[in-house]
Amino acid sequence: MLWGLLSGLGRKGGCQGWTFSSCPPYSPLAGLVNATELVSHWTAVFEKRGIPEARESSEYIVAHVLGAKTFQSLKPALWTQPLAPQQVQCIQELSSQRLHRMPVQYILGEWDFQGLNLKMAPPVFIPRPETEELVSWVLEVEAQRLWAADTRGGPLILEVGCGSGAISLSLLSQLPKSRVIAVDKGEAAIRLTHENAQRLQLQDRIRIVPFDVTLERNWAHLLSWGPVDLVVSNPPYVFQQDMEQLAPEIRSYEDPSALDGGKEGMDIIVHILNLAPQLLKDSGSVFLEVDPRHPELVDSWLRSQPDLHLSLVTVRQDFCGR
Ligand SMILES: C[S@@+](CC[C@H](N)C(=O)[O-])C[C@H]1O[C@@H](n2cnc3c(N)ncnc32)[C@H](O)[C@@H]1O
Repeated sequence: MLWGLLSGLGRKGGCQGWTFSSCPPYSPLAGLVNATELVSHWTAVFEKRGIPEARESSEYIVAHVLGAKTFQSLKPALWTQPLAPQQVQCIQELSSQRLHRMPVQYILGEWDFQGLNLKMAPPVFIPRPETEELVSWVLEVEAQRLWAADTRGGPLILEVGCGSGAISLSLLSQLPKSRVIAVDKGEAAIRLTHENAQRLQLQDRIRIVPFDVTLERNWAHLLSWGPVDLVVSNPPYVFQQDMEQLAPEIRSYEDPSALDGGKEGMDIIVHILNLAPQLLKDSGSVFLEVDPRHPELVDSWLRSQPDLHLSLVTVRQDFCGR
């Protein structure tokens, strides 16, 4: 869960959160600079101020204001054409947010995940590329299971800790017969998942439920569609002592309760594993994204809880070898 710019940014031109008419007075650079020069200018400013991924940040911001996904995808003519005063001002406004270490995903207000363009808003957790791999793994296993069983209906999935809805919505979009129950304890996360479900026209196959796995004893209402085939989660799993080492982008803008997994990063994982057997079909599975230290901890915890009838089947490393 390291901070990093992801590939595949969603598009939409214009400034985030304010309109051209509300712009402060135009920058002295207005009408004199083109997109390439502004990327170089802001890259140099970011580098000087120690902002990580200086070039990528400035390219994404400039491209966004010009209505493109990436700087490289801009029409070459736009690289050298003088920018309008509003555009220069807009780039300046967004870049100054980056100087305050705001993640690019929040500055732009949108980001791509598994080919879906999702709205992003602080403090809701920004989906990471390793979680795209978790989704791909679920899809891969699910494809085999459906094929082997020749099942007609799609799987019923429960996601714990839906955040922006990234996992749930990408599974729904790629498994057209599936249905998802997405739960989260955070109000902002519940709201954002609703918004993203609407944005992607997937609202008819998802139930979005405020639910805290550590508090709620009343989970029966999650079973209104019957027992589920899969439980999937990217839970808070950072070891408490590692929280201080997280990048300023994460510490200042993302909800700490989306990350902090307690002393051994297992607090929420244990609650999910306790809940899962009560909601799963007999043949059901749990997919979790965890820290590299967790498979051993999860395995030994499950062995100490034979009544749960859950066992660790497989562990996969992500593209970073974690
Ligand atoms: C690491 S984020 C994952 C968000 C999203 N699934 C993703 O991968 O981008 C963990 C999410 O779990 C939620 N969460 C934390 N503690 C929880 C709890 N006790 N019960 C339910 N959700 C919880 C947080 O609000 C956050 O949205």
